[in-house]
Amino acid sequence: MTSPSHHASSARRRRIAAIASLCLAAIATGCAPAGSAALSASRPTTRVSTSSADSANGDSFAGSAPVTGTERSTSLRAANPEMERFVDSVLALMTIEEKVGQLTQSTGSASSTGPRVSEAGAAEIRAGKVGSFLGVYGAELTREMQHVAVDESRLGIPLLFAHDVIHGFRTIFPVPLAEAASFDPDAVERAARIAATEAAAHGVQWTFAPMVDIARDPRWGRIVEGSGEDPYLGSVMAAAKVRGFQGTDLADSLTILATAKHFVAYGAAEGGRDYNTAEVSERTLREIYLPPFHAAVRAGAGSVMAGFDDLDGVPMHGNERLIDGLLRGAWGWDGILVSDYTGVMELIRHRVAADSASAALLAVNAGVDVDMVSGIYLHEIPRLVREHQLSEAVLDSAVRRVLRAKYRLGLFQDPYRYSSTAREKALTLTPGHRAAALQLARESIVLLRNEDHLLPLRKEIGVLAVVGPLADDSSSALGSWAAEGRAEDVVTVAEGLRRAVSPATRILRARGTSLDGSDTSGIAEAVRVARRADAVVLVLGEERDMSGEARNRASIGLPGEQLRLAKAVQATGKPVVVVLMNGRPLATPWLAEHVPAIVESWYLGVEMGTAVADVLFGDYNPGGKLPVTVPRAVGQVPIYYNHKSTGRPPSDSDRYTSKYIDIPWTPLYPFGYGSSYTTFEYGEPRLSATEIRPSDSLVVTVSVTNSGEREGDEVVQLYLRDDVASVTRPVKELRGFRRITLQPGEARTVSFTITANDLAFYDRAMRRVVEPGTFTVYVGTSSDSTRDARFRVVGDVTPVPDTGMVR
Ligand code: BGC
Repeated sequence: MTSPSHHASSARRRRIAAIASLCLAAIATGCAPAGSAALSASRPTTRVSTSSADSANGDSFAGSAPVTGTERSTSLRAANPEMERFVDSVLALMTIEEKVGQLTQSTGSASSTGPRVSEAGAAEIRAGKVGSFLGVYGAELTREMQHVAVDESRLGIPLLFAHDVIHGFRTIFPVPLAEAASFDPDAVERAARIAATEAAAHGVQWTFAPMVDIARDPRWGRIVEGSGEDPYLGSVMAAAKVRGFQGTDLADSLTILATAKHFVAYGAAEGGRDYNTAEVSERTLREIYLPPFHAAVRAGAGSVMAGFDDLDGVPMHGNERLIDGLLRGAWGWDGILVSDYTGVMELIRHRVAADSASAALLAVNAGVDVDMVSGIYLHEIPRLVREHQLSEAVLDSAVRRVLRAKYRLGLFQDPYRYSSTAREKALTLTPGHRAAALQLARESIVLLRNEDHLLPLRKEIGVLAVVGPLADDSSSALGSWAAEGRAEDVVTVAEGLRRAVSPATRILRARGTSLDGSDTSGIAEAVRVARRADAVVLVLGEERDMSGEARNRASIGLPGEQLRLAKAVQATGKPVVVVLMNGRPLATPWLAEHVPAIVESWYLGVEMGTAVADVLFGDYNPGGKLPVTVPRAVGQVPIYYNHKSTGRPPSDSDRYTSKYIDIPWTPLYPFGYGSSYTTFEYGEPRLSATEIRPSDSLVVTVSVTNSGEREGDEVVQLYLRDDVASVTRPVKELRGFRRITLQPGEARTVSFTITANDLAFYDRAMRRVVEPGTFTVYVGTSSDSTRDARFRVVGDVTPVPDTGMVR
């Protein structure tokens, strides 16, 4: 396709000008252009709703019936009447087919030079049959397609270009699970901002990130894409990423629309099998799976994606209770709800729709605005509207949400603002972006074990053996969903170590074994190499394609013969450091018991090797913490720190308690755990009061001292327990954390403020309340290593509106 021409752009200007003058007329007169039904601000619709529930909770989704009422976007209209008039004036010009076109997301195809759009695809744009594209990017290509949309389609409505920009566009940052291990939301926000900057320069305006699914099951391959098991940490990270992608002004050409996905409980897939049914109680849904979505929405996420799961019998692509009732109703959110890839069509396979017309009807009525690639809306909705099976008002609401997003992104002002070859060159993989990727990579590393201070190693070491199949795997360092990341941009672990050691150091390399399969032929050579070395760095784990979408594993140990390799190398008696590369917690009890030093380095992106070398040689003191519990064996799954007490908590001395007869019930490594080259001492937590009323806040202070000899980072963690409540409550729940850097001998007082929001939970009647009684505060270095204090809440049971976990 070629098209940018003066003629084309003047034609575009004419069309936009025509729309704009209608819009201005509407603004000036306060009345609709001829034929517009859309300008009456209070026009009722049949299905979107205002909350009808308990106002204290602000939460209307508990009922099973779909909620009905007047259109909720009245508040949005008040918020930006100019935008609403503009959107309505555009809507008034649209045919039913053009409206459905806006709800249709198409995809390009891959070629050796990147994505492309076929002639047929361009013809669809021209015909107004597509509103957005998935995976079409590049300043030139997006500019070219935008020209077709604005100059050659009847109304000239610009396209949206969406892409999975998950942990970087070209400058790849650590995978999201690793980012969460940094416990540094500011750094994570910066990473998302950089990803947005690079993506936006390539014409992308909409990312399908952050993935905010809570995951308690490491078999599930997509655990790598989220922030782990904890709803509080997940909420903080969700909000940070939304802020990073979207900035403060979506019309800024360096910010893009964020998507919280996959709504909701997609991470609860049974058996850890992707796309599977989720079976969670209403309480667990509210307390564990929903909070990160709430946080993303409160941070302004412009879009949410439906999950492939079915929940309590209702597939999420047809779940009006949670989409229209909760998201749009109780939470008052009015962004674009996008389907997942062919998710609308899959309602047929879920067997809740007999055919594609019923599937489309179910989805659009539930509030799914955009159909990703299945084409089902395009084929079915026009007829459904004409035959009065679908209300046109429902269609209009969905179209409005898409047009609003285009408006907010500034596309009606300048459809080409995101497609800049100059910015593409200037802002991609810059030294500054690489430096940010390096810093976050360092912060994401978790030191799991360091017996006898084996680490850090000396750079002047004589001979260093670097063993293992992943040591020079540049592709795996990128992790799954690496957008435009390229293996050639990566500093591998082997390369990072080579660059770091002294000129006199010799590095010996042996692969040892293949990553998977039963090949052991290289182990003897690895042992020979280890014997000649002063220390061995053994890089083990999973390759990139072993986690991510549809990459579930029934076993979560080291794949292939890597454990045999580790045992053989350890048997040489040389000092061994294991560097783990993985996208899920790996159950590696043998390593934990026998290998003196273990570094969890996940997939750290383009600067992986530099970051690992910085840690192994002590240029950086690791301070990351586990965002997820590491099991000893897959049979412990699900295992998570914020579990209930049960009536028979595990006890070594009592047979009839909740445990196993073959392995301990405890994890290999607990949530929040991570060691350091220095040591930190915690003082007793001090409370501003020992008795509060539910409306009061309480300040917890603790003094943390670096009692070792190196500068180091500590993540100070605060957990709470409701000691006795009307329903069973977790043994503890994270309610605050702070990553701080302390010089040797330095002490810092860290304080956390606890409010009713931190104390509240859903009682037996599913009201969010604070109940009087005692609470225990735990402060410390990990979920299982804390000091505690106690306070009492006095007064009555007090309802607390659900404003989310993150203030
Ligand atoms: C995934 C989504 C992703 C979409 C588009 C789907 O298979 O589940 O997370 O955004 O593809 O690539």
